[in-house]
Amino acid sequence: MIATGLAQPPLQPLRLPWLAAAGVEVAVLRLDLIDPLVSGNKWFKLRPWLEQARQSGAAGLISLGGPWSNHLHALAAAGAREGLHTVGLLRGEPRHTATTDDLHAMGMRLHWLGYGGYRARHQPGFWAPWLARYPGMLAVPEGGACEPGMQGCSQLLSLTEARLAELGWEGFDAWWLAAGTGTTLAGLVHAERGRRPVHGALAVRSGQGAERNVEALVGQFGYHWHEASRGGFGKADAALLAFMQATEAQSGLPLEPLYTAKALMALHDHTLAGHLSPGTRLVFVHTGGLQGRRGFLQTQDL
Ligand SMILES: Cc1ncc(COP(=O)(O)O)c(C=O)c1O
Repeated sequence: MIATGLAQPPLQPLRLPWLAAAGVEVAVLRLDLIDPLVSGNKWFKLRPWLEQARQSGAAGLISLGGPWSNHLHALAAAGAREGLHTVGLLRGEPRHTATTDDLHAMGMRLHWLGYGGYRARHQPGFWAPWLARYPGMLAVPEGGACEPGMQGCSQLLSLTEARLAELGWEGFDAWWLAAGTGTTLAGLVHAERGRRPVHGALAVRSGQGAERNVEALVGQFGYHWHEASRGGFGKADAALLAFMQATEAQSGLPLEPLYTAKALMALHDHTLAGHLSPGTRLVFVHTGGLQGRRGFLQTQDL
């Protein structure tokens, strides 16, 4: 059963020359390792929905995403294990990607909404025809961006604190992680209640909703935004790809270009700009997403 089947995420030291030079210590919370399919922050965002579906006897879960969506991939995998039907509403015109092939294989019903149809997802009444077509299903917002998703992510604090002793750490100074909708960040801010700051590296252009989502969930305090999108969601320039490759070679930490590499590169730039004093200890959350990496060289339509 999925609720008990996931491993606890390891907390591993990250050894990189630019961190050593600055005297900054970073431990990586490896959410990418908790499960081969329901990977990363997705498990924490989806778990409350799975529990609600089970408790309410819902027929299944319906949600939205792009053709390489980590969110739909995790939802399809979790649904298949839990015996819940899943439906995915996809952005764009019908096509095959490694991700959509997986979604099919995991039993998710797919509908392609086109681009205009997908843009309508925030309009009132968007869900009504889908819930009429699939009665008894729960509609999970895009990217799991919602209060239950935030509550699920707030567990990351206790999971991390339980592992600090393994590193010989009594504590740490701040969090650093990639943000898309900001729901994972909001979960940490909610759990921290102002104790430690949470730094969100925005993998989408600022002003596209993450800031509003986080403010609505947790207010204005306890976190800092860093622009990390490098031109927009799905964009990866040569410098980012070179950084990702060098980091993987030097540390063995697998990354993908859309979220985790951007977040770590933002931390790199922040460190080199002298914003962190020697002795600073950070936890970097690896939010997963490695399945989406398969598509990166094939398309920019992520
Ligand atoms: C790998 C990965 N990291 C980070 C994020 C961003 O998470 P959030 O939307 O909670 O900010 C996502 C998207 O959900 C993701 O797929």
